[in-house]
Amino acid sequence: MLLTSKKIKKELKEKNYTIVPFPINEKKILESVQAFFKFLEEPTATKKSINFTISPNHRRGAVGYKIRDGQGDIYDDKKEFFHFHPAIFREYSDLLKKNDILRDFVLKALPIWEEAHQTLQNIFKVLEEEFPGAVKKIFKPGKDSHILLRFLNYNWKSSGECLAKPHFDAGSATLAIAESCPGLRIGSCPESLKFVDHKKEEAIFMLSSNYKNVLDTEELLPGWHDVVQMNKACIGKPYARWAVVVFVEAYGVKALSRRETHKWYGV
Ligand SMILES: [Fe+2]
Repeated sequence: MLLTSKKIKKELKEKNYTIVPFPINEKKILESVQAFFKFLEEPTATKKSINFTISPNHRRGAVGYKIRDGQGDIYDDKKEFFHFHPAIFREYSDLLKKNDILRDFVLKALPIWEEAHQTLQNIFKVLEEEFPGAVKKIFKPGKDSHILLRFLNYNWKSSGECLAKPHFDAGSATLAIAESCPGLRIGSCPESLKFVDHKKEEAIFMLSSNYKNVLDTEELLPGWHDVVQMNKACIGKPYARWAVVVFVEAYGVKALSRRETHKWYGV
């Protein structure tokens, strides 16, 4: 699969995403997800022991474990995730020596992050042809790039038809790497959402709400997306879902407000 600027632009214009090669064996990704679930069994204090930011300006800068309980929600749904960045090895070398489960998880996450870093570099190098300067807005030698690998786990006591509410991501671009079940829909607005067929060793690349900080154009649009439950028999029943996603942000950018990233939610 050859990446060309023409192909990427055409697909982003037509369907708001493009499929790119992601040559990591599915087994390796599943092993990293298993290590993530093992990490989730650790005591809360251990899970929260990694906590720093690679960018104080935007919401996606936080590295480490985060939990969001469905506050005030009668179903008490839980969403928890871990943002991986290789700076963890630099910042927490002593902790990693002591905690086998954490070390195993981050060591399995690293090659996936590295592949994502390479894939994003390939994409933006190709796009550089038409958008000069795009690469250095994300990648600078000797400086951490703001690329976070998110391992995400959702638990519903009673799941609905919509597993992820429709939204734009907050960064500049997103790479969807793997998920436990199909159901991701991408479009430009609520009316144009379409199911995406996600195959092994491929990733789904879409622009996010802040993409103009990298690609200065009105021609392309960010991917409005949600996740729906495709097995109707599961609706109303307990349900769990995991996903592995990468968020990338340009240097020195402030994230848009939630009002902007979720603007059509509820319509
Ligand atoms: Fe998203």
